Amino acid sequence: MDTKLMMETARAMVAPGKGLLAADESSGTCKKRFDSVKVECNEENRRAYRELLFTTPKIADFVSGVILFDETLRQKTKDGMPFAEYLKKNGVIPGIKVDGGAQDMALHPGEKVTEGLDGLGKRLDEYFKLGARFAKWRAVITIGEDANGKDLPSWACVEANAHALARYSALCQQASIVPIVEPEVLLDGSHSIERCEEETEKTLATLFNELTWHGVSLEHVILKASMVVSGKENARQAGVDEVAERTLRVLKRTVPSALPGVVFLSGGQTDENATAHLDAMNRIGGAPWPLTFSYSRALQAVALNTWRGNAANVAAAQAAFHHRAHMNSLAAKGQWKKELEKKAA
Ligand code: 13P
Repeated sequence: MDTKLMMETARAMVAPGKGLLAADESSGTCKKRFDSVKVECNEENRRAYRELLFTTPKIADFVSGVILFDETLRQKTKDGMPFAEYLKKNGVIPGIKVDGGAQDMALHPGEKVTEGLDGLGKRLDEYFKLGARFAKWRAVITIGEDANGKDLPSWACVEANAHALARYSALCQQASIVPIVEPEVLLDGSHSIERCEEETEKTLATLFNELTWHGVSLEHVILKASMVVSGKENARQAGVDEVAERTLRVLKRTVPSALPGVVFLSGGQTDENATAHLDAMNRIGGAPWPLTFSYSRALQAVALNTWRGNAANVAAAQAAFHHRAHMNSLAAKGQWKKELEKKAA
């Protein structure tokens, strides 16, 4: 276990004005995204699309690391350089999604538990050799009610997922890989923002309790958090300042200051909301950790829509991706302005 390497990795992941690109969509999720722009989801198209993102000029000014999917870590640029090597050469740290996906939880209809611990130690050793220096494991927490009117999430779901995240983190650290722990509280549903705040607090408190029991070194873990927002179907949609204040409050209550950084997922927010919320939190300031982005959809949506599988659109798609990364880099410093979006449009 190389703690010096993990410390360097973690610090670089959340360096000032930089964040992560989540490009670790499983082939199933990738198909959904490609279907939306009528691109066939085959291995070569997935490779070409990821190459478009990774080779965007000057992207390392804003992106410190990329979360890859297993297939992508083994793919190469069209010139034959492994993606991991290309990224590293250009100052971007390769990371890897290692969970086996959120599966239906037995005896808990409507809830999910993330699988993938079996054989993970060996896989992590291989990923390290392939160049990965950090990993990601996503757990999914659903707010709502089950068929009998019982409130979700259940304690069993929160606890089982926190336990898996802790076991995964211990395995990562043993392999000198920095674990990103991602307990995503979904924004789907009609719940209020108050409910989201409450369930997020319980989820994070349980997670850090488990990490402590498993002996995970908190100095070498990055939290990937969901923001505290109104349920998508709730009539009252909280504004930017309220989201920022509630999210910061929950994090301060539950996340040890020993952590090197907190990154956020976008979770289905609009591109601009994901940027505005991050910016507002950094403007409030006073958090003991850097707060930055680890977005998939909020960084990629516009690039994918511009590309549409056509090689002639690559430069325009890269420009769109560069712009979103730039906006989020400013938000990570609390320096984003809405007018900058209009200028680019
Ligand atoms: P979104 O930003 O699209 O929520 O994806 C982030 C992620 O990595 C989910 O695991």
